[in-house]
Amino acid sequence: MGILLAVCCLLGGCGQKEKEANEPRLLLGFSQIGSESAWRIGNTRDIETQAENYGVSLMLENANQKQENQIAAIRRFIAYKVDVIAFSPIVEEGWDNVLLEAKEAGIPVILVDRDVSTSAEGLIACKIGADFYKEGVMAGEYLIRKADSLELTEVNIVEITGTENSSPMRQRQAGFLDAIAGDPRMKILESIDGDFLKSRGAECMRSLLDTYGDSIDVVFSHNDEMTLGALPEIEKAGFAPGKDMIIISIDGGQDAINVLKEGKINCVVECTPKLGKELMTTALKLKAGESVEELIHPEEQIFSDETDPASIAPRGY
Ligand code: AHR
Repeated sequence: MGILLAVCCLLGGCGQKEKEANEPRLLLGFSQIGSESAWRIGNTRDIETQAENYGVSLMLENANQKQENQIAAIRRFIAYKVDVIAFSPIVEEGWDNVLLEAKEAGIPVILVDRDVSTSAEGLIACKIGADFYKEGVMAGEYLIRKADSLELTEVNIVEITGTENSSPMRQRQAGFLDAIAGDPRMKILESIDGDFLKSRGAECMRSLLDTYGDSIDVVFSHNDEMTLGALPEIEKAGFAPGKDMIIISIDGGQDAINVLKEGKINCVVECTPKLGKELMTTALKLKAGESVEELIHPEEQIFSDETDPASIAPRGY
């Protein structure tokens, strides 16, 4: 009888442990912007992989580039009573109402990758993502060094920007403009909205070439996708990218790095999509009621023709 009881207790104990082991440590709702770039696809993949690594149950929704889809997804996460909500806001404005709803439901919110603009207090627990302003500064500083090394006296720049009113678009532009502001050689011929898309990068480049032709010295593109769209247009117009025009990009995906190695891109500022690990550890801390850092920026670097591109390790996105 004693033995039977002990076995039952043991079995009961095991059952409880198994149940606990099978229960997710955290239910995380994540609203992704869409699939507009290799960067975005790499970011989604990384978040899925790290959720698995950390035993986090992930409700992932793809908003297909629409803010209203992101707002609807966040409302579904609230209705579902997830432990933590995370999202990459496609644009900066228009989130206050839904964020207030999350706050009233007692669900902490993490911003991943991009920022929101809000004057309301306490809507966001933490932001995990790149320092976009610094990326713009790194691009501008590279250009000044390049212009010095080529002894250029006049530098005509066209800028293909990311999605209008998005934080990477605003901050990359601001950082770049601030970095070149003190250099009288630098002139922006035009800034044109390429929406972070390859097809738009090509369209924008065609239009810029039609208007400015061989007066373009520099193409500053806010992401690799648009750069990769623009390059064939430059070649079709009879110019050699990387030689006749200085090409500066942001992201550092494998496709752009391969083209940098061919000499058709001069500089790529890294923006890493690998934010999943920080997201999982931060969300777990929030669930446990621990304090978290308000702002987490990953380390980022610059790849350019100033160093040997052959030494760049595989990028993984
Ligand atoms: O928000 C990050 C930007 O969004 C990346 O630079 C771009 O490739 C992506 O679409």
